[in-house]
Amino acid sequence: MAIKASNVPAALTRGPLITLDGPAGSGKSSTAQEVARRLGFRHLDSGALYRALTFALLEEGVAEHTWGALEPFELDPLGLRVEAEDAAVNIYRNGVLLTSELRGPGVTERVAMVAGVPAVREWLLEVQRSLGAEGNLVADGRDMGTVVFPKADLKVFLIAGLEERARRRLIQDFAREPTMEDIKEMAERIEQRDQADQTRDHSPLKRPEDAVDLDTTAITFDDQVSFILRRIKDLTRLQGEI
Ligand code: CDP
Repeated sequence: MAIKASNVPAALTRGPLITLDGPAGSGKSSTAQEVARRLGFRHLDSGALYRALTFALLEEGVAEHTWGALEPFELDPLGLRVEAEDAAVNIYRNGVLLTSELRGPGVTERVAMVAGVPAVREWLLEVQRSLGAEGNLVADGRDMGTVVFPKADLKVFLIAGLEERARRRLIQDFAREPTMEDIKEMAERIEQRDQADQTRDHSPLKRPEDAVDLDTTAITFDDQVSFILRRIKDLTRLQGEI
């Protein structure tokens, strides 16, 4: 059952905020989406915001060697609009909803570079915080629990073995069991992106100190969703509310 605003304890100025962080392909977005659906909360896939900026920079033809020196105001004319609509956060460019274009190879190859640009992180910080202002949100990404929502009620850090993450990503993209060779190649790409995400100066991917760890290598999707739902129900201040 969803937490209604009227059910939230008086001391609470917003509804619950749950964050899921972790490396590429650890299952954050699909898990966050299902947890949000089960609770009647909104889902924020923060990776999609970084992907949208990458897509817009490419579409606009902004030269790649200039991205690192961009100022936040230079991102305003890219035509992006982020809207909280029912259970989802939708991203529009020039009025058109962005969907599969965000997951194309050109975007995936460059998104970690864009995510390291200070102006990009600054520009997106306020967008993300405003989406979380009322709570009732499950947000997934790399810095949700560390930087964007440091006061989240539950922080989960998802991990999974590299090969398993590569295998899942290939099944997600091509809907068939991949060969060992495909897995190896994808694992290398994922590892490079993880490396870039973990070593950048600004808001690197790292485990929030107060996070609950969840290794999904050998458990089913349903089990990982149930694990998180149980932890949410364990939160003392939410008892009786969900
Ligand atoms: O789905 P996948 O794990 O492949 O990636 P994603 O969640 O779509 O995120 C794409 C990229 O955006 C990541 O590799 C990071 O470089 C960046 N990102 C970030 O820096 N901070 C976030 N909170 C979310 C994503």
